[in-house]
This record gives sequence, structure tokens and C-alpha cells, in this order.
Amino acid sequence: MKEAPEKETLQSFGDMTPEDFKKYGYQAIDWIAEYMKNIESYPVLSQVQPSEIKNKLPKSAPKQGIEFEDILNDFKKTIVPGITHWNSPNFFAYFPVTASGPGILGELLCAALNVNGMLWKTSPSVTELEEVSLSWLRQMIGIKDDFFGIIYDTASISTMHAIAAAREALNLKIREKGMAGRKDLLPLRLYTSSEAHSSVEKAAITLGIGQEGVRKVAVDDSCQMDIKALVNLIEEDIKEGCIPFCVVATVGTTSTTAIDPVGLISDICKKYKMWLHVDSAYGGSAAIVPEMKYIIDGWKDADSIVVNPHKWFFTPIDISVLYCKRPEILKRAFSLIPEYLKTNNDNDVTNLMDYGIQLGRRFRALKLWMIMSYFGQEGLINRIREHIRIARELKNWIDKNKDYSALQVAFSTVCFRYLPRDLKEQVQKDNSKEEIVHNYLNDLNEKIMNSVNSTGKIYISHTKVQDNLNLRLSITNIKTTEEHVKQAWILIQKHAEKIDSEMRKGLQIK
Ligand SMILES: Cc1ncc(COP(=O)(O)O)c(C=O)c1O
Repeated sequence: MKEAPEKETLQSFGDMTPEDFKKYGYQAIDWIAEYMKNIESYPVLSQVQPSEIKNKLPKSAPKQGIEFEDILNDFKKTIVPGITHWNSPNFFAYFPVTASGPGILGELLCAALNVNGMLWKTSPSVTELEEVSLSWLRQMIGIKDDFFGIIYDTASISTMHAIAAAREALNLKIREKGMAGRKDLLPLRLYTSSEAHSSVEKAAITLGIGQEGVRKVAVDDSCQMDIKALVNLIEEDIKEGCIPFCVVATVGTTSTTAIDPVGLISDICKKYKMWLHVDSAYGGSAAIVPEMKYIIDGWKDADSIVVNPHKWFFTPIDISVLYCKRPEILKRAFSLIPEYLKTNNDNDVTNLMDYGIQLGRRFRALKLWMIMSYFGQEGLINRIREHIRIARELKNWIDKNKDYSALQVAFSTVCFRYLPRDLKEQVQKDNSKEEIVHNYLNDLNEKIMNSVNSTGKIYISHTKVQDNLNLRLSITNIKTTEEHVKQAWILIQKHAEKIDSEMRKGLQIK
């Protein structure tokens, strides 16, 4: 590897020259454009083994800087093979994150400006564009204008801030005195369904509520929070001398995209004077589609709501939005202004550092604003609507194949399992075989998933529903078309039959 000419090494100080920046910048952009064009030629799931990438890289940084061209070559040769391509239209695992063109350019400009939006004064555009773009998004979703919006990195952090605000709303001086060793403080209790995302429990761990302070409410057959079970737990906890303080409802659970009955939950929250947080990290984006507006039923009575543009709004990771109806409480939980951060406009402006634990903040609103401006409301609605349509189409195809069963589709995620009809019939005839068949089917479906993923053609994930392993295919990538999903379905069926016939030899049920 050539060392860079001396003028460009650290020995002479200074940055890359503007001429070189342009030269290598064009090379990087050319690579990105080709990458996006040829994204389907990459294996979706990286095929490398653990440590393979690490072992290919030098153990220490080079003593002298090297040519950027060589760095770019190393990136292509060594780093790219260890990438799982979330940008691929054949990435269907988890909730895919798409980096759309305007989003990538927004990230590039954000890095170039390199501003820190901790205070209004440290870059007025960061605060004001955040206000404007979150107002646009709020209107599109249908969230009322009495909600204040703020950007954090991820839904986990948004939810943690919401629960911190819920705790502050109790006026128990936890901010001042903490929670440890206080005889005057009764145990706090937070309620969320057994299907809620792990970030809720993690927030409780962080905030001193503890895992025992999180009450997992049972769900019904559709995986929605059971309201009676919620009320029973609250009553039980009150009797035990605990303080119920917050319910986290989910609209679009991670596993099956179930929708908790937010309207009913909000009535309960009002009755027991509890904070209602709605986790709609994935599902919230769907509410921009007029015929999906029913999913925001009851949101007007929530205290806070999280929506993640980095899940289903074509915005490169990371960006999560928290809408909060009681921003003064969020501020009371977190605002702490040392002398060196005071400014002469503090009374007239919003300083975003007041609404969270972080001081420094990236200009994430830039990419969101560019995406909303570039695609427009109709463009975004049409894309999300199309994902929902394709997911329903996939469910129709699955329903036509009697060897499969699929769950209802609420958004753009389909959970289904291979369930060969002869095995189903055997269990119907003789239910003593149920457990063996159940274990066989879980094993079989897991092997199908691993098998299709190892081809590099698609990437799907799984979930368990009532202990049944389901394959899970989620469509949120801006480039995914019906044809991609059709090909994925054909591939899954092919692998399923082959693996089943191989595994059947070892199944003793006759
Ligand atoms: C419903 C829900 N909430 C929260 C999260 C956490 O999201 P993040 O990765 O932004 O923290 C997820 C992630 O999939 C999710 O599905």
C-alpha cells in the first residue's frame, strides 16, 4: 500500500485539500450510486464468519496516512463483504431500514455541516427545522397539534425519555433525591403487554423502576393487551401498596404487529391517573395513509407517542420521534443549565438540550425534511400503501397453499408457518402426537428460515406465537416490489418442501 505524499500526511497538518475532497468525494458518490443500482447482486445476509473481517484488518493504525483511494479499495474489498444489506429490496427481516436517495444525501450534508444543535443558538436551523419537519410529520400522521415533537436516535431512547417524564409527573422528588433507600417512596409499577418491545423493560431498568416494577399484561388470541388483565394487575398492585404510574401500549408490536386498544387503555390511565405512552415505532408511519387512520384511535389522549422514521419512512438509521403532550414535564425531568450553556435568548427559544440526557445533538431533521420534501405527502402515502397491499397479497398467496398458515396482516408484516397438511391431519386423528409434531414443526420452520437466508437471495426473520415458530417477512424497503415478494415466496416454498422431505425420515409418529 502506497503512503500518501508528504503534503497530505499528518506531518504537515491540516485537512484533506478541497481538490482531493472533490476527487474522492466523486469516487465515493459514484460507488454509492452503483451500489444502489446493483444492490440486488449482493448477498442480502453477509456470508462472513465471526472474526473474518477483524482478521483482515491491520492490528494498529498506519503510522503514516495512506492514500484515500487505497482506503476506498479496502472498504470495497474488506468491509463490504461483512455488510448485511439492509438497503436490499430482498431484506425482509426484523423491520427493514431503507436509506432512500434523499435520505443519504441528507446524511452527507449533515456530516459536512457537522453542527451540534444542543442550543438554538448553536445552529438555529437545527432547532427550527426539527420543529417544522416534526410538525409536518405530526400533521401527516394525524397527531393533534398540542403534542410537542423531539428527535432522539432510537425508539428505545424515546421510550426511556417518555417513562422518565411519567416518573417525574408523580412529583415524588425523584429528580432531586433519587430512589435508593427512601422510606417515603412506594414501589413504582409500569404496565405493558407481554408482547411489548424489550426497550420498555430496558428503560425501567435504567430508570430504577427495575424489572420487577414492569408488569407484563397478558394478551388475547390476537396478541393485543387484555384490558381486564391490565385492570386486575393495577388493582392488585394498589392493594400491595405500589404506585401504578405508566402504561406503555404498542401499536404494531415487534413480533406480530398487533395493535393494543389504546382508546380503552387511555380510559384506564385517566381513571388511575397514569401516564400513557404509545409505542408505534414501526406502525405509526402507516397512519399517513387515509384508510389506516383507525390505528391512531385514542392517541389524542396519550401523554406521549413514539414513531421511528428509520423504520418505515425511508430515512437512514438513526432517527426516532417522540411526541409529548406535556413537554414541560419532560423538561422538568431533564433540564439542567450550567453557566457555560446560558445564552441571551434562553427565554425566547427552544433549546433542545433541555429535553433529554444528551447535550450534543446531530442534525437529524435535515434528512427527514429532505425526504418529506422530495417524495411529498402523496409520494410517501403511495409507497406505504403499496407495502400494505403487497403484504396482503402475500397473505392471499399463503392462504391458497393448504400446507401453510398465516396470521392476520395489520400493516406490512406477514407471520406464517409451514404446516404440512398430512401432519395436521395426523394430529387431528391422534392428539398424543401433538408435542412431537409441534417440536418437529418448530425445528422445520427454523431450518427453512436458515436455509433461505443462507442462499443470500433473501433475508427473513422469525418470531414465536404461542410457542409456534413463525417465519416473519416484513416489507418496508422503498425498492421492494410485488415481484420481489413473489420470488421470496417461491423460494421459501421450494426450500420448505426439500427440507421437510429430508427431515421426515427421522420423524417417528407412525
Ligand atoms: C415496537 C418497537 N418499539 C421499539 C423498538 C426499538 O427500536 P429502536 O431500534 O429504534 O430502539 C422496536 C424495534 O424493532 C419496535 O419494533
